[in-house]
Amino acid sequence: MYDLSRREFLHTAASVAAATSLPAWFLNEAQSAAPIAKNDEPLRLALIGCGGRGRGVAGQAARHGRMVAVCDVDDANLAEARKLWPDAAPFKDFRKLLEQPGIDVIVNGTPDHWHTLVNIAALRSGRDVYSEKPLTLTIDEGKRLVQVVRDTGRILQTGSQQRSEKNFRLACELVRNHRLGRLQHVDVWLPHGRSEGPFESRPVPTGFDWDMWQGQTPHAPFVTERAHVTFRYWWEYSGGTLTDWGAHHLDIALWGTGFERSGPASIEAQPLVEMIPGGFTAFSEYEVRYVYPNGVTQTCRSTTANAWNGTVLDPNGQQHGVKFTGSDGWIFVTRGKIEASDPELLTTPLPADALRLDVSDDHMQNFIDAVRSRKPPLCDAEIGHRSVSVCHLGVIALRLGRKLQWDAAREQFVGDAEADRWLSREMRAPWSYDSIG
Ligand SMILES: NC(=O)c1ccc[n+]([C@@H]2O[C@H](COP(=O)([O-])OP(=O)(O)OC[C@H]3O[C@@H](n4cnc5c(N)ncnc54)[C@H](O)[C@@H]3O)[C@@H](O)[C@H]2O)c1
Repeated sequence: MYDLSRREFLHTAASVAAATSLPAWFLNEAQSAAPIAKNDEPLRLALIGCGGRGRGVAGQAARHGRMVAVCDVDDANLAEARKLWPDAAPFKDFRKLLEQPGIDVIVNGTPDHWHTLVNIAALRSGRDVYSEKPLTLTIDEGKRLVQVVRDTGRILQTGSQQRSEKNFRLACELVRNHRLGRLQHVDVWLPHGRSEGPFESRPVPTGFDWDMWQGQTPHAPFVTERAHVTFRYWWEYSGGTLTDWGAHHLDIALWGTGFERSGPASIEAQPLVEMIPGGFTAFSEYEVRYVYPNGVTQTCRSTTANAWNGTVLDPNGQQHGVKFTGSDGWIFVTRGKIEASDPELLTTPLPADALRLDVSDDHMQNFIDAVRSRKPPLCDAEIGHRSVSVCHLGVIALRLGRKLQWDAAREQFVGDAEADRWLSREMRAPWSYDSIG
């Protein structure tokens, strides 16, 4: 227990209390990105992956156009999407949907293990894509996706929408402009995952194409918990909350440190739980330590104060978010909240010649503007790939159980052929980068 003097206590309490809202100078700036004029034809949209998030984000896209097609491997979720868009043509196979003319934009709300193949097929077919995060299942997928975006000249926005929230942009702009003096350490807290099990296999529900749902991943008997929503807690389909929430908060850490198009130099990690055989496979609690090439250290820990979806379980516990600590103080930022060790760190305006980050206050609007202007969106494929690479590196270190050195320029481990084998995964036939058009 720290023994704070009364003055220190009052100062600390006042700092936190006074600094939890956005400062006036930042709000008053005419920084909001103006939407591109709506003088074009409405966009023709299609949704692939009609679960909760797919339908939600497609609803945002539908403010800018007309939903002409929807696709899901499960009739139940396809039916939910058709309630929202009764005129949209239904598909169970995304390849058939992509063969249709008259579609400009794909919204990809599939689970993580399907993101890349759907995205690559959509880009190759000439469509622009809004893809949910985490952008990929492996680092190799990300390298290929970035190349396809370059080759096709199409637009891809990664659904890491925290970059379109003012709190996060303010925190990263201040850190990038040395408001904290010399940046020393970044703490990232992510909601803990789930550790139940073992689970029983069951008959595949009617109307659910379980083989297609599994796609490139190893075949497994149907288990309800492997599929909708809880796929996140299996290594086979995702990386637990380290990728699910890491794609948000580790993305912000990269934005703030400025390593957003490169990455860390070393990674080591420990699981903090044992998982139950036959249950969820991705470690639900963990600690990962990174060192950036400039010596800045970063710790990413799961916290039990938040449920998997961010809901507060323990208001007195450590909440998920990102804390930047430098020689002159700290800034903590999370959804809807920014705090600092001293309020003046936030309330003092940045100088006129400060480095400013790209502005977006609406992630979908930013994507639509990119589609119209053909200029890169805020979270282009490389940003999404580099951010999820930090998550994947953490997962690889957790699973290998030893310290790894990473060459972010070559996107390979340093002198470590065993670790390099984790950069890609064998795809189950018939799936491959060439099988999808
Ligand atoms: N940006 C955010 O804040 C945010 C929030 C929630 C979820 N997400 C992401 O959105 C994605 C979906 O999450 P969810 O919670 O909606 O999952 P979900 O399981 O509810 O939905 C996924 C849907 O995709 C369908 N699907 C699977 N394979 C398919 C294929 N080959 N073709 C067509 N449909 C297919 C499934 O049947 C299911 O209906 C995940 O990658 C998740 O990380 C992002």
